[in-house]
Amino acid sequence: MHTAPMRRSRSEPHLVAAARAAGVNDPRVLDAVAAVPRESFVPAHARAEAQRDRPLPIGSGQTTSQPSLIARMLAALELTGQERALEIGTGHGYQTALLAHLAGEVWSIERYAGLAAQARANLAATGLDRVEVVVGDGTRGLAAHAPFDAIVVSAAARELPAMLADQLVEDGRMVAPVGPEGMQQVVVYTVRQGTLTELERLTPVRFVPLVAGPLPVDTD
Ligand SMILES: C[S@@+](CC[C@H](N)C(=O)[O-])C[C@H]1O[C@@H](n2cnc3c(N)ncnc32)[C@H](O)[C@@H]1O
Repeated sequence: MHTAPMRRSRSEPHLVAAARAAGVNDPRVLDAVAAVPRESFVPAHARAEAQRDRPLPIGSGQTTSQPSLIARMLAALELTGQERALEIGTGHGYQTALLAHLAGEVWSIERYAGLAAQARANLAATGLDRVEVVVGDGTRGLAAHAPFDAIVVSAAARELPAMLADQLVEDGRMVAPVGPEGMQQVVVYTVRQGTLTELERLTPVRFVPLVAGPLPVDTD
């Protein structure tokens, strides 16, 4: 099969180049990375670092993930623009903003009310609608709006919560970091004949934990 050579513009933004170097070649994902200003989704004290391809602290003991890893995870969802997508773990909304460029409708759940409020403000300031940020425990999914064509989990669970699989459509895609601390892998799943099926293990990772149960009181 003939494969077109990869185009690399001399003026390509650093985070786009980082995503490409990490193996992302879906042009819609690369365009979304180019379109979303990461500066608008990190706290003021981290803004100078926003164009570096590394995780950054966002308060409440949480981080916004490495952009090239986010791009890889979103590429694995193989979105076309029509999908109803669910994100678990909004943080400050950077990945949510990318999803808003890639899917038709986006819901996102965050357990820290303060982070969710900041994410809503960041998304509104960048003019992104078709996104709803909900405060809650994402291990339970979002039954009121299920089922979803795509689910991305951005915090790590030892085992994938069963309720998430129940909210994914047949042939839908879910990507999630799964495994015990120190041995987490990003796993891509689909649903085949009603059964959650593992498609691929993308990469070893270290994510903040997916925490189930009562919601925290924000400290910052
Ligand atoms: C790696 S961070 C945020 C990543 C984010 N999507 C980004 O743009 O970089 C993971 C987030 O998941 C949240 N989280 C952890 N457990 C959760 C749960 N059960 N429900 C919803 N959010 C959760 C954390 O509070 C944190 O904000």
